[in-house]
Amino acid sequence: MTNSASDRVVIFDTTLRDGEQCPGASMTFEEKLEVAELLEEMGVDIIEAGFPIASVGDFESVQEIARRAKKAVIAGLARAIPGDIARAGEAVRLAQRGRIHTFVSTSPIHLEHQMRKTQEQVIEIIAATVAQARNLVEDVEWSAMDATRTPLDYLARCVETAIKAGATTINLPDTVGYSTPDEYAHMFRTMIEKVPNADQAIFSTHCHDDLGLAVANSLAGVAGGARQIECTINGLGERAGNAALEEVVMALRTRRDVLPYSTDIDATMLTRASKLVSAVTSFPVQYNKAIVGRNAFAHESGIHQDGMLKNAQTYEIMTPESVGVTKTSLVMGKHSGRAAFRTKLKDLGYQLGENAFEDAFNQFKALADRKKHVYDEDIEALVDQEIALADDRIKVLSLTVIAGTLGAQSTVTLDIDGEHKTVQETGNGPVDAIFNSIKTLVPNEAVLELYQVHAVTEGTDAQAEVSVRLTENGKTVTGRAADPDTLVASARAYVAGLNKLMIKRNTVGAQVMMA
Ligand code: KIV
Ligand code: ZN
Repeated sequence: MTNSASDRVVIFDTTLRDGEQCPGASMTFEEKLEVAELLEEMGVDIIEAGFPIASVGDFESVQEIARRAKKAVIAGLARAIPGDIARAGEAVRLAQRGRIHTFVSTSPIHLEHQMRKTQEQVIEIIAATVAQARNLVEDVEWSAMDATRTPLDYLARCVETAIKAGATTINLPDTVGYSTPDEYAHMFRTMIEKVPNADQAIFSTHCHDDLGLAVANSLAGVAGGARQIECTINGLGERAGNAALEEVVMALRTRRDVLPYSTDIDATMLTRASKLVSAVTSFPVQYNKAIVGRNAFAHESGIHQDGMLKNAQTYEIMTPESVGVTKTSLVMGKHSGRAAFRTKLKDLGYQLGENAFEDAFNQFKALADRKKHVYDEDIEALVDQEIALADDRIKVLSLTVIAGTLGAQSTVTLDIDGEHKTVQETGNGPVDAIFNSIKTLVPNEAVLELYQVHAVTEGTDAQAEVSVRLTENGKTVTGRAADPDTLVASARAYVAGLNKLMIKRNTVGAQVMMA
């Protein structure tokens, strides 16, 4: 069934697995469901929802995503270990279309130093574990970890064994981001030509970006016969990340003349997906990032602007609208009413219930009183915050800060499970004083690993968006909040992080290191 003759490339998104594996990018249960829902709506064919054996939280999110999915295949990752495979099978059992994705290392360096197994032992492991997975589900993907550093003749034996045992997709990852496009394409061509049963599986790419070649290698893999690309939103992933979904999709669309392949992705949703993933992980998207960076369609130089005014195609190979960029527009002010706000939310893709709508509207009015121009980005920041706050146990009620050359002092009142508590603390600057006050009210061992501030829009009255990353006992969370006052946003972001940590503290389960 290999589709190397067809032009359809299936998109396998692993934002929730390889992406989430990247330090500091962890998402809550609700955030994972939200991302999965958007990926499905966008037309992603396969969503790798997590690594079920890794923790109870991972298992539960894969299970819930599997239960909710309507048409996307939902995959759960498993090492080549019977317990992992059984757990992944259980997690995807309720999916209309479930997949077990099992992997084992094949390169000499991994076999010798990590697995301490011979090549023959690994062949036996592949046969047994793929067969076990195939007894649980029809759709089994097998990956040769570190495939690009594996001798091709041995790799061919592994691939043949996996297909014989029932694998329907064969993934050949560039796990360490070492390959080059020609080499990667050659590996697929060789497998498809040499492996006798290669026509019974679809071949897949999975590229890491250590040398900045992940997207180029993925496209080369397709030219070599692969018809599945594994990728992540914003290129999130281990170390330098994975191939970026938005780049792969837009390269295939924009250069169909030389890359005659198609995907089912609705490209107009790429910007929204990028913003959502950046928001829930608090990983900012670099300004000049291809497709979704805020400068990706900005033209600064006079020559470029002149050309753009005469004909956009002079300097633009794709339109901002084609990837879902809506021009920053002046939306509303303090006189705007409910109807206009409701229409704006709809345009921005939000569907809020009546109570959430009222809360968001009141927040918008308060913002419009303090800020001259309210832009789409302001409304997005405000509504995202409202949604995130809905279930929080701790809320910031009020904040006063006195700061200057003599030091800083803050008075903070929090609502903790319905009880109002106030405290005053000093600090080495206003943010330190605020965080010290919050720490006194909510004692914790969390280490502040990152504190960053972004302006949501331009101008001195812009909302400040603050992100914090907290780590406690090996668990990392991010908190994010926006407000025209940087100090208020800082307090809310810190409290948002603590709320997430409280949820994580209740998530028990063995943490498993990825092989
Ligand atoms: O990079 C890799 O090899 C992986 C496998 C688990 C597929 O992520
Ligand atoms: Zn990977």
